Amino acid sequence: MSDRIHSLSGYMQEYQKSVHDPENFWARIADSFHWQQKWDQVVNWNFEEPNVKWFLNGKLNITENILERHLFTHGDKPAIIWEPNDPNENHITLSYKELYHKVCQFSNAMKAQGIEKGDRVIIYIPMVPEAAIAMLACARIGAVHSVVFAGFSASALADRINDCQAKMVITSDGNFRGAKTIPVKAVVDEALEKTSSIESVVTLKRTGTDVMMKEGRDIWWHDAIDGMPFENKAEVMDSEDLLFILYTSGSTGKPKGVVHTCGGYMVYTSYSFRNVFQYNQGDVYWCTADVGWITGHSYIVYGPLLSGATSVMFEGVPTFPDAGRFWQVCDKHQVSQFYTAPTAIRALQAFGTEPIAPYKLDSLKVLGSVGEPINEEAWHWYHDHVGKGKCPIVDTWWQTETGGILISPLAGITPTKPAYATMPMPGVQLVVVDNEGNELKGNSVEGNLCIKYPWPSMLRTTYGDHERCRQTYFSSFPGYYFTGDGVKRDEDGYYRILGRVDDVINVSGHRMGTAEVENAINEHPKVVESAVVGYPHDIKGQGIYAFVICDMEGRSEESLEEEIKQTVNKIIGPIAKPDKIQIVPGLPKTRSGKIMRRILRKIASGDTSNMGDISTLLNPDVVESIKSTAR
Ligand code: PRX
Repeated sequence: MSDRIHSLSGYMQEYQKSVHDPENFWARIADSFHWQQKWDQVVNWNFEEPNVKWFLNGKLNITENILERHLFTHGDKPAIIWEPNDPNENHITLSYKELYHKVCQFSNAMKAQGIEKGDRVIIYIPMVPEAAIAMLACARIGAVHSVVFAGFSASALADRINDCQAKMVITSDGNFRGAKTIPVKAVVDEALEKTSSIESVVTLKRTGTDVMMKEGRDIWWHDAIDGMPFENKAEVMDSEDLLFILYTSGSTGKPKGVVHTCGGYMVYTSYSFRNVFQYNQGDVYWCTADVGWITGHSYIVYGPLLSGATSVMFEGVPTFPDAGRFWQVCDKHQVSQFYTAPTAIRALQAFGTEPIAPYKLDSLKVLGSVGEPINEEAWHWYHDHVGKGKCPIVDTWWQTETGGILISPLAGITPTKPAYATMPMPGVQLVVVDNEGNELKGNSVEGNLCIKYPWPSMLRTTYGDHERCRQTYFSSFPGYYFTGDGVKRDEDGYYRILGRVDDVINVSGHRMGTAEVENAINEHPKVVESAVVGYPHDIKGQGIYAFVICDMEGRSEESLEEEIKQTVNKIIGPIAKPDKIQIVPGLPKTRSGKIMRRILRKIASGDTSNMGDISTLLNPDVVESIKSTAR
């Protein structure tokens, strides 16, 4: 496509154009898609309400741009290559034509189950091709999908179903993950005891695990599609109709439903995919994320498939059956672009280079990193041992809210620098502001990362609560979108992300709100109060450290710690389980009763040399006591 950038000077030119005349810049890119009716205005926005609309009054269906658009040019090309958990099980390849038929068939099945345009559908399913098929079928009929990571607990799933008042759940009987088989449908059944909006549940048979099927509510996937036609006329969607909701954690206790809409998301995910990864026809691209996160949405499903790419979907884990699995899959499918998270790289680095040795990895051209800052050591290991020193690393910074990659090198085109996300994508106008909201101009500055102009795939609202969207992203620094990240712009103008400046912890590239984990801990009947902070963790990037005041009567510390972990597991899921729990006699508080997290963060990270002034605390003595029993 004509919007591919081929050189550093090309990038500079495109960037300049995108800033001087954003409307023409994005109109040109959007023009290459199939619109049932062209837009009559490119963008209309203000960051006060906020109100952001792109390609106004344009009519389209994103799946026509994925399916019909590619049928004639490369209908037989693999769209999805699915690699199962067990290397001895056969992989599955779905061509664009096959994907088209499967999406149409499942679209018809969903309609037969009573799903209409605008209805919300929860997808709670592991990494199987049907996850992508279900997402695309929703998009085809205009239903709004909300994929919930299949590792979340029944209670977390119920919260999300209730928040968006979903009508259907699409799930599987179970999930193969490494050596384990995990029940999935049983979790849905438990969640549905706390919800009332769900009318039907479609269950894919994957593991053969025994499941309960509720009469009148539950139907097997294979029964639902039985006899359904392989053609389906795509619903006409407005650019600003909802495409999906994806729940993510913030600094308050309740996850928020980030809303993305059809037109802008389509244009940006595809544009960024092609440019960041420099995908060429014939390449096989593999992103190891889960479809339950934004990376899976934008860079396993939508971005690559909109670009007519071949996208690998992997059911398993990096260490099963051994720590060479990623590399075995790269060789097996001749992967050209490989995109993973720093936490996976660090976990594999810990096994040394031996698991890599049996593999050639000579098909690799580009390596990607996402989700958290990549430390220099991991960057070099990835570069030297996986990329054999010849593959550029694209360290891609973005968020659930941004929909697509906003800061990244363009593979082989713009320079890389270890631990730096480097430069903004065309169309992305970054600003660094100090805590008072003053823009810090020039290079060699550090501050809060904000964005001053909209980009097509930015969130439009938080579902059912627009005020929360305004408060969270547009009120800290008026006139700007605030990312929640700290950033450094170095002497060369390159951006390095320094991590969250709010109460969000990034655990293995997954976002966790400290308040959310505290709320879960506080559900335990013996817990009086808790405070959760992040601390540096060798593999996960950040670990979860919980300081907890407990009523110890009749309990040992060990049994209480285990019970608290189980409580968090039940309320949120295993990803939120604290790595360390310290039972404390009190929490350091200001005279107004606010917990001094700064002090707890220092103790958690083992850096107690300079605690700052603690004399103004309500209870300074407690600091010594916490320090002396720190984990
Ligand atoms: O702190 C940043 C970190 O992940 C946060 C967004 O998390 P989430 O919405 O779950 O999306 C993750 C996948 C896009 C950001 O606010 N983050 C993401 N990518 C990077 C990063 N931090 C440093 N470098 C990155 N490349």
